[in-house]
Amino acid sequence: MKNKKIFDNKEELALFFAEYLVARVLETPSGEFFTWALSGGSTPKYIFNFLAERFRSKINWEKVKVFWGDERCVSPDNSESNYKMADENLLSHILIPEQNIFRMFGEAEPVVETKRYADLLNNHLKKVNSVPSFDLLTLGLGNDGHIASIFPPFADVFNSDNLVEATLNPYTGQKRLTITGKLINNARNIYVLVTGAEKKQIVKLLMQEQKEWMKLPAAKVDPHNGQLQWLLDKQAASIL
Ligand code: 6PG
Repeated sequence: MKNKKIFDNKEELALFFAEYLVARVLETPSGEFFTWALSGGSTPKYIFNFLAERFRSKINWEKVKVFWGDERCVSPDNSESNYKMADENLLSHILIPEQNIFRMFGEAEPVVETKRYADLLNNHLKKVNSVPSFDLLTLGLGNDGHIASIFPPFADVFNSDNLVEATLNPYTGQKRLTITGKLINNARNIYVLVTGAEKKQIVKLLMQEQKEWMKLPAAKVDPHNGQLQWLLDKQAASIL
């Protein structure tokens, strides 16, 4: 839990992430794609906006394929949809070809969709140790230590043999789709994006390995062959 960068504010965090993205897409060999799995959440939303406003023309979006790490089981035009949030704040503002956008079908029968999406990932992603591997996975962090849609009461979902699972938000009962640890920990690069004072307790608990931190889904993010970095603003890191 040590690899972290702390920024004065979320704008500086977003700029660091944007410049990382520019560099990674630039170095993507011609004929290949940079594969990025998005998440929901307020910090990812801020970063999407930042990219749309200030990096729209600085990245060759035609070389980027976007996927999702999780989705709410709702239609794509529902205000709860992670796809809708990404579309409104980023995708509809950049020149990314429609065929490079691979949303999870929140409107589908969840278990059927887990299989469709797993097959899709197997078809579109490079493999590492015969498991699909995202070039980049960005995650938010819930106040309860959830990541993607893997919540503490269902933390075992992280260890599933499947690439994608149907699960629940335990507080609302909302059905969710989520990638599992098999995919998460096979990513080449993972950034956990955390801002705001309301995250300071969970950040402290995880970074200082307090109480039963290892039981939390966020504690299980540990890429086998990839890089994991926590990008925090000062507010989220204020009691470290
Ligand atoms: C979702 C996200 C979820 C989110 C965290 C952090 O579907 O809600 O994937 O994992 O990233 O809940 O969200 P906030 O930054 O809004 O607290």
